[in-house]
Amino acid sequence: MSYDIERIRANFPALRREQNGRPIVFFDNPAGTQVPRSVVEQMNDAMFYKNANLGGLFATSVAAEQLVDAAHRAGEMFVNAPRSGEVFFGQSMTTLTFGMARVICADFAPGDEIILTRMDHDANIAPWLMAAEDRGLVVRWLDFSEESFAFDLNDLAGLVTDRTRLIALNYASNVTGTINDVEGAGRIARACGAQLFVDAVQYAPHGLIDVAALGCDYLVCSAYKFFGPHYGMLWGRRDRLQALRAYKVRAVSDELPGRFTTGTTNREQLAGVHAAIDYIASLGDAYGHPAGPELRMRLAAGYEAMKAYEDGLTGRLIEGLLGIRGIRVLGITDPAEFRRRVSTVSFVADGIAPSQIASALSHEGIQVWHGHNYALEIYRKLGLANGGVRIGPVHYNTVEEIDRTLERVETVVRG
Ligand SMILES: Cc1ncc(COP(=O)(O)O)c(C=O)c1O
Repeated sequence: MSYDIERIRANFPALRREQNGRPIVFFDNPAGTQVPRSVVEQMNDAMFYKNANLGGLFATSVAAEQLVDAAHRAGEMFVNAPRSGEVFFGQSMTTLTFGMARVICADFAPGDEIILTRMDHDANIAPWLMAAEDRGLVVRWLDFSEESFAFDLNDLAGLVTDRTRLIALNYASNVTGTINDVEGAGRIARACGAQLFVDAVQYAPHGLIDVAALGCDYLVCSAYKFFGPHYGMLWGRRDRLQALRAYKVRAVSDELPGRFTTGTTNREQLAGVHAAIDYIASLGDAYGHPAGPELRMRLAAGYEAMKAYEDGLTGRLIEGLLGIRGIRVLGITDPAEFRRRVSTVSFVADGIAPSQIASALSHEGIQVWHGHNYALEIYRKLGLANGGVRIGPVHYNTVEEIDRTLERVETVVRG
């Protein structure tokens, strides 16, 4: 079946919301996507019918345990984990990263080095900076080019020394939209024996993750960015996870993933994450050509269908923005290079504050973010104290929404 945008939109009750008699335009997606009905139904089902603690010998507990196991298996398939037990969940990507930074850096010695980037969200910077402060580590910074909005891996290779213990890198930027060469970074990390920690929060709504191919040690993402509930997910290489000290109560076994799951599992969130993964796979069934019935193949087809559609929206958005005098797009603009970017587009306009544009759009029911979006280093490097405006289309947005937004941006910029 060809891509049926109306059918897709019908799955998302939020998209029917109106402001001043017109449908609201959701372009705030990089800060959190809307949720299909199936996700909420599964969360309701967990609360209504699977609401018991785990480990009991009675039916409701067994059902809850099955739900939890199934969500972990789905999470493992979502990232293509080579071994079971390698995925666990937590409150958010930020919470998971703060926790993991502590235990990962616990055996680093004063003077050991870590590499952070100027393109990352602060959630993949601050936890490592604080761990570095605690342990006396040296922090080295990987810079990106202001022309290509990409890293040069030679720069990364140049930063590595025999004391490099960890590289923290994002898969896709929440501002520039650049998809980074994680595989290349993985080769450099392995060559020097360093660990690679990948923030895939902004990649997961747009592309299939394959930790086995990436060659990283850890990868984190957040389900509310890919049509699920507010819950974070972490994959770690089994040998790495097993070697870490887990802070847990004594009654919990030392097996993975339980050793990193403190307290009672949030199974309604797990039901929602599982349903979000199934939702992406269902797009593959409807609009792609899955190579087989397995979840992984259906996910690949789902992402392929989304990417093809999103690239069309991205192209139209960027072309429109570049056609407005005084606007600068902060990211890759050449459609031939779109395989290296997701659909998140940030821009600035000469002499007009990002907040002024976002506010004018908001009056028209068009939701976009402005400011630094927690990517402090990017805007510091670009010398843009007020940050930018970020428009983030996803697979449920439309060409009409792009045009309506461009029209309004043009009016504001022209004054
Ligand atoms: C690239 C990136 N990393 C990390 C985060 C933080 O994720 P969470 O809200 O799950 O802590 C965000 C949130 O916007 C993000 O965009």
